[in-house]
Amino acid sequence: MRGPIIFIACVLVLIAGIVVWMVGQLAPMRAAAPGSAAGSESGREAVVDEPPLIAEGRRLHVKLGCAVCHKSDGSKGVGPSYAGQWGSTVALANGGSATYDPGYVRMSLLDPKNHRNAAYPGLMPSYLGKLSVHDVWLLTVYIMSQTDSAREQAYEWAREM
Ligand code: HEC
Repeated sequence: MRGPIIFIACVLVLIAGIVVWMVGQLAPMRAAAPGSAAGSESGREAVVDEPPLIAEGRRLHVKLGCAVCHKSDGSKGVGPSYAGQWGSTVALANGGSATYDPGYVRMSLLDPKNHRNAAYPGLMPSYLGKLSVHDVWLLTVYIMSQTDSAREQAYEWAREM
């Protein structure tokens, strides 16, 4: 009566083998699904490529409380989001306009009253006398890097700082 037992054992081993193979096939599929760890490969690369001074600018942006009012994901906070804004023309509350460039960021930080974005209330605090020239640059390249089309240039400037 050994025959049937050996036969059943063989079938079980075969089934176990098929299950192991199927799990092996499914694992990479799951990893590549959108939103999973492997699916956000390009996002991870972007962080790896990021110059240290951009990360430093981001940390300073949080440390100074800027991130409370400014989002980088395009959503409106108390203040404008940075996403996609670099290089655009900003209508100012004083009737003039400004190009969103390093000079505009600098004046927004040091003299916000006279450079207020017309679409927002005057809630931007002045950082006059509170930031070093280096700080202003760290914040500038960080803000610039939040616009996709300006990111490469921002990274280049950050590497040259
Ligand atoms: C209490 C909220 C608040 C904080 C904190 C704050 N901001 Fe602002 N910020 C605003 C508002 C509101 C505006 C729009 C009005 C204006 O232009 O003054 C603005 C405008 C700006 C602009 C011009 C953006 C545009 O699209 O016109 C820049 C750049 C900026 N802020 C950077 C910063 C940085 C960097 C910090 C931190 C050092 C900071 N802000 C802190 C509220 C804030």
